[in-house]
Formats: sequence, C-alpha cells, structure tokens
Amino acid sequence: MCGIVAYKGPKNCYPILIDGLHRLEYRGYDSAGVACLNDGKISITKRRGKVIQLEQGLKTDGKFQNCDGPGIAHTRWATHGKPNQINAHPHKDQSGNIVLVHNGIIENYNPIKKFLKSKKIKFKSETDTEVLVQLIGYFFNKGKLNFEQSVRAALQRVDGAYAIVVLNKKEPDVMIAARKGSPLVLGVKDNEFFVGSDISPIIKHTQQIVYLEDSQMAIIKDDEYKITSIDKDVSLPKKVEKIDFKIDDYDKGKFKYFMHKEIHEQIDTISNTITGRAKKDRVYLNGLLEYWAQIKEADKIFITACGTSWHAGLIGKNLIERFAKIPVHVEYASEFRYNKTLIDNNSVVIAISQSGETADTLAAIKKANEHGAITVGICNVPGSSVSRETNCGIFTRCGHEVGVASTKAFTAQISILYLLALKLAASNDAISKASLRSHLDFSENIKKIKNVLKKENEIKKIALKYKNANDFLYLGRGLNFPIALEGALKLKEISYIHAEGYPAAEMKHGPIALVDKNMPNVFIVPKDKTYDKIISNIEEIKSRKGKIIIITDSKDKILRDLANDLILVPKTNHFMFCHLATIVLQLFAYYIAVGKNLNVDQPRNLAKSVTVE
Ligand code: F6R
Repeated sequence: MCGIVAYKGPKNCYPILIDGLHRLEYRGYDSAGVACLNDGKISITKRRGKVIQLEQGLKTDGKFQNCDGPGIAHTRWATHGKPNQINAHPHKDQSGNIVLVHNGIIENYNPIKKFLKSKKIKFKSETDTEVLVQLIGYFFNKGKLNFEQSVRAALQRVDGAYAIVVLNKKEPDVMIAARKGSPLVLGVKDNEFFVGSDISPIIKHTQQIVYLEDSQMAIIKDDEYKITSIDKDVSLPKKVEKIDFKIDDYDKGKFKYFMHKEIHEQIDTISNTITGRAKKDRVYLNGLLEYWAQIKEADKIFITACGTSWHAGLIGKNLIERFAKIPVHVEYASEFRYNKTLIDNNSVVIAISQSGETADTLAAIKKANEHGAITVGICNVPGSSVSRETNCGIFTRCGHEVGVASTKAFTAQISILYLLALKLAASNDAISKASLRSHLDFSENIKKIKNVLKKENEIKKIALKYKNANDFLYLGRGLNFPIALEGALKLKEISYIHAEGYPAAEMKHGPIALVDKNMPNVFIVPKDKTYDKIISNIEEIKSRKGKIIIITDSKDKILRDLANDLILVPKTNHFMFCHLATIVLQLFAYYIAVGKNLNVDQPRNLAKSVTVE
C-alpha cells in the first residue's frame, strides 16, 4: 500500500507532487506528506487525513509556490504505527540530513531499532520506516560512506519488502530510489526525473519509463542517472520503455462518488471489454496467442486472486468447467503463494487483478513462474506488475477504477472469463458452433443493464429500509454463489455492516442459527434448474421470521408472496443474469452506505491497491 511520487528537475516540485499524490491516493489515505530540498534545507509538511488536507496545509503555509530542489511525497496506509501526523511520511534521520518515503514493510525493524538506540539514536515515530532512514543516517553521519554507499549499506541490512526514495541535504544534487518486493517506476525526460509507485503520477509528464526490477536502485545525480543492483555499484543496462498509455483525469461528472459513476459505466466497460473479442462464432483473445497451443491443452487450470477478483475467479471456475470441461482450482493468492499447490510446467495459472499491483497475487505469479507454469494475467492496468510478470494476458478495458470498492472491474473480469471459457470450449470441440454463436451474441443482453440502472430509485428505497440492520446474509446457488459473496463484500466494505455470502442450501449448516426477525437475507434467484430448491431455502428462512429480499428474473407469484422486498431484473441468459444481479447488489450496498453518510469512495481502513502482504 502507500503511494510514492518524487521529482527532480528544474520545475517547482510541489504541484507535480501533489497532483501525483491525488493520483496515488487509491493506495492509502490515512495521511500524506511531502519533503522538498530548498536552499540547502529540508522542508517537510505532513497532514493526517487526505491529500487535499496536505494541499491546503501547503497553501496556507505559503510553501506551494516555490521549491527549486528535488522533492518526495507519500500517501500512507498505516502498517506500523497509528495513522497520525507523526507517523506520516516523509521521515528524517536524527541529524536531519536524510529524508525518506517508503512503501512496504521492514520486517527486521525491531533488532535494527535496538541497535540504533544503543548508539543513542532517538526515534520520533512508531514506524518501521523511521528505522530505515535512521540506519541510512547512521552510516552517512559516521563520515566514511557517501550518500549512495550509505543507502546501499542500510538496504543490505534490512529484510522485507520496500520501495523507497531518499534525499540528503548534504548531497542535494542526488536522489536515490530503490525497490525490493514493492514496485517502483522511474520516468525520464531530458533533465527531469520522476519516480512513482506506478506510472499514474508520471505518465502525463513523460512516456519514457524504466520499470525498476527487484533489488535495483536508481541513482539520479545532476542530469544523469544510473541503474545498479542494491548489492553492487555496477551500472546495469537502462531498459527505457515507451509507454503509450493515457490516464484519464479524475472527474466524477454528474455523480457525487466515483463508485456511483463506475456502477453506471458498466454498460460501456463490459461492451469495451468484449468488443472485437467476440465475433459471430469466434472468440479472439490476441494477448494469449503466443501461448494458446499450450493453454488449450491444459488438463487443469489454476486461478488465483484476492478479494473481488477472487470472486470473479470462482465464476471463471464454474464457466470453464461447464463449457470447456477442464477442472479448475481457485485459490486465494495469499494461500497459493505458501500452500503446496500442485503446479508444474504443464499447468496454466490465471491471475486476476484489477490494479495489477496486489502483493499476494504477484507473489503467486512469481511462484507459478518459478514452477514453469504458463501464467495468464487478467488485469485492468496496462504496464502494471501483473501485466509484466505474467507470460501473457488479457486486459479488462474499464479505464481507471477510482472507488475503492471494485465494481466495473468485476463485471469486466467475469466477461473475460466467459470469453475464455467459450474459447477453450471451442478449441476442444466441447461446444457447437450454433451454441457458441448464441452465447457470443451479447448485443441485446448488454442493453438490459440499462433497465436495471433505471430501477435505481426502487433499489434505493429498499436499501434505505435496511440501512440500520447489523447483519446480512447473501444467498445464491451455482454461478450466483460468488455473486452472493461479492454482494456481501460490497456491503461490508462500504457500509461497515457485517454481511456473509453462502451457497443458499449451505445456510442450513450453521448460519441459519443467526436468523431472527431483524436479519435481512438477500436471495439471488434466477429461474433456472435450482429455482425450486432455492424456494425451499427461502421458506426455511421465512419460517424463522428472517426478512427476505429477492433479486430475480421471475414474475412468479410465489416469490412475491415470500419476499418482503423483490427486485425484478429483465429476462436474459444465466451469465448475463449474474451481471444484472451484481449491479443490483452494488447499488443496494451503495445506497445503504450513502444512507449512513459514509464516504463510499474511501472506506475506512481500506486501500485500492494492497501492495503489502
Ligand atoms: C473489493 C476490492 C478488493 C480487491 C482486492 C484485489 O471491492 O476492491 O477486495 O478486489 O484487494 O485487488 P486487485 O483486483 O487489484 O488485485
């Protein structure tokens, strides 16, 4: 988590850094800070809270106008130490010479802190980051090592994951960036240098990008830079890539929250994701071309991801097994990375990630690559670590997803998985051309999303009725079990109401004990082969006085009689029903959270991109 942006060049760094922080705020928003080297002095400003508070602070202090030296900035998602101003980055060493921003976790900070304390070094914050800057300062202030050597010496002694940028007022012409585990990107443009946790704060300034590899350092001195490993001061080749990628400006349009806007964008994002990839009776996934011969031969597929993307993975399993008849194993990336997963060089491992920067997902990909598996990324951010670390992949074409709760990325991910399942089925002759053609005919079905969005007021009214509930159960079967999980996750993330998703029939094996007259139970009920079974499950809850909310495409009276509230979506096919039910649940969660006056775009304790373990 945490976002880093840094600038070294002739311009005033503050506007560049603050704009960069706004773009990185999705990574954490507990506190933010900026340090600038100006006239031989380090000037640090920090604020608890959002980047806007930091920006206002800089303006009030009259600092915003002017900084002629390099600057570093940070937006924090707290790991070690409370989210307050003292723990906010940048951190200084005791002498005040060195200043640093950090993303990641220094795992052995305790013994190092003890050692530094024995050398009479006093600490101001509770962070692991201050330990690192103090260690650099310790080496530098002994007088035997220059700045670069001191950074190298300190980094060689720390364990864990980090991306850092460091300045030193005694060597004001130098800026040092380094990474291990956490991503870091350098942008270059004549005599200007930009560093970022990802390309989002950089790309509007330059398209010339160097993705630092693991355990590499970039040392920028005057108008030159070199890349070395952290271990040795030997220059490595500069792999400058031209990234042709535009990042949209942040604009909520007519909406109050990005999440709301992103829910409404789904008709376009699903269409964009499918366009050109589904044509009559053929699926084109060009990003997989090079590896398709091996992928289609897979006798087992692994899917790994976290959170919402993991829910998409469960849908992927259902679809691939159903259409292509290939067994699929889905595992949380945080488990996959450590479990004894049976992968080898015949395995195909699909990693799903909106951000492309999730630490656990990246570690799972690394493990799969080390075992010789073919790794496939399904990802929303071109240039992200997932897109770079996998052998091949497919982009969801959603544009920037700003709201912390993932919405449009999820429906695009499941659309890609649908196409992949159908392509695998077609390659293995597991589906007829006629059936393929009908599955790939999205045009009419996508339009039905509009009908669901038109029901927004009805969904809002129902949501507000339940906004004070303490617990929710979300229940669905088959393809709609993951949709139930996703609906429950959306609600708890943004409204802080406890919610759980279950396969509808599984509820009898425990969760039903929770049901009483206060408990809302959301049932997802398409008119399919499990319809009658799910009605029995509803009866079971009803007879225990639980409140029943039904999302269905059936007009049957029996459902109306059972439901306290019912949301009817248009008739479509099984797969499109998942999209429609998802959108209803997104709006339902959204209006409960808004009804509770919560900031749905930046819920407490969360960050958009989880870059720590
Ligand atoms: C939920 C949500 C998270 C993410 C998870 C994985 O709304 O956003 O659960 O889905 O952190 O993130 P990505 O997909 O970026 O790897």
